[in-house]
Amino acid sequence: MRLPRPRGPLSSHLVTLLREPVRRDRALDDVAATAVREAETVLADEDVQLGLLIVQELSHDGLDGVDDGWERSPDVVSARAVLEDAVEAELRAEVAPAVQQILAEARRDPATAIFALTDDAEGPSLAGHLQRLATRRELEEFLVHRSILQLREADGHTWLIPRLTGRPKAALVEVQSDEYGGGRLERMHAHMYADTLLAAGLDPEYGRYLDQVPATTLALHTTARMFGQQRRLRGATAGHLAGVEATSSMPNRRVAAAVRRLGLGDRAAAYFDEHVVADAVHEQVVVRDLCGGLVEQEPALLEDVVFGVLSCLLLDARMATAVLDAWETGSSSLLAEQPDRLGAVG
Ligand SMILES: [Fe+2]
Ligand SMILES: [Fe+2]
Repeated sequence: MRLPRPRGPLSSHLVTLLREPVRRDRALDDVAATAVREAETVLADEDVQLGLLIVQELSHDGLDGVDDGWERSPDVVSARAVLEDAVEAELRAEVAPAVQQILAEARRDPATAIFALTDDAEGPSLAGHLQRLATRRELEEFLVHRSILQLREADGHTWLIPRLTGRPKAALVEVQSDEYGGGRLERMHAHMYADTLLAAGLDPEYGRYLDQVPATTLALHTTARMFGQQRRLRGATAGHLAGVEATSSMPNRRVAAAVRRLGLGDRAAAYFDEHVVADAVHEQVVVRDLCGGLVEQEPALLEDVVFGVLSCLLLDARMATAVLDAWETGSSSLLAEQPDRLGAVG
């Protein structure tokens, strides 16, 4: 991935620093803390979310022209913790009342309680709008938003596998194996999404559209990685995946219909068709065997499982609201491509 265009002091500091050979930079911690302090909400702050994505990228794809050694730099590790702790704290505060509301029921029957949450998921239906009303341009914008997640589909949750044993581990491996195409590249979901982008005339390179993707969408990506890479958050990671899988089948049916209605064809729809079928199974395996099995082994994780589910639903709803609000006023839901739009320095 290319280094993205900065969106404020934190991402600007990182983009400049990471071009240099690995060295100590004691200022980074302060820059990260200031960005967190000055953000109205870290979940939707352009500079915080982009800064977090940049440091997380060091543990995933890496960044063009950036020394891989930066991943282990104590200053980068520390800044990442500052950002992720702030994101986690805000998420916990946002969903705390809903977590408490469902906890007693979840103790009796975790799977039923999780399905009740995902079935009742509030928030505007982005997929419903796409199916019925969206223009071709809106559908393309939607594909660009999702490109940041889907071209690296499943990776965030895969970090959880080595932290599990027994039934929950077998369940997660089963689901992730499907996500990665069961060993067949052409069935790998990330690869299928690249095919969708190509069929829509868009660029399938990961990160190609990063500069246009706003924080409310980046937060879906950074949160999955933040959960997945911390053993402490294994309950939340499982719950987050349950949120993803259990709200996927029906919306993907709608998006597949939108893709066909707008003339993009079967090849572009194949990714969405696949999820209608696959995720009807995945939601059962993830909710019952991964989450249920994990809570059976470690009952103390129940609260975090519920926290993970609700975090996923909250961020999905925020993203959908932001996109639909923009479209309602006739605007683009993406960030403009001009370099100075956000006062950034390059
Ligand atoms: Fe998938
Ligand atoms: Fe899935």
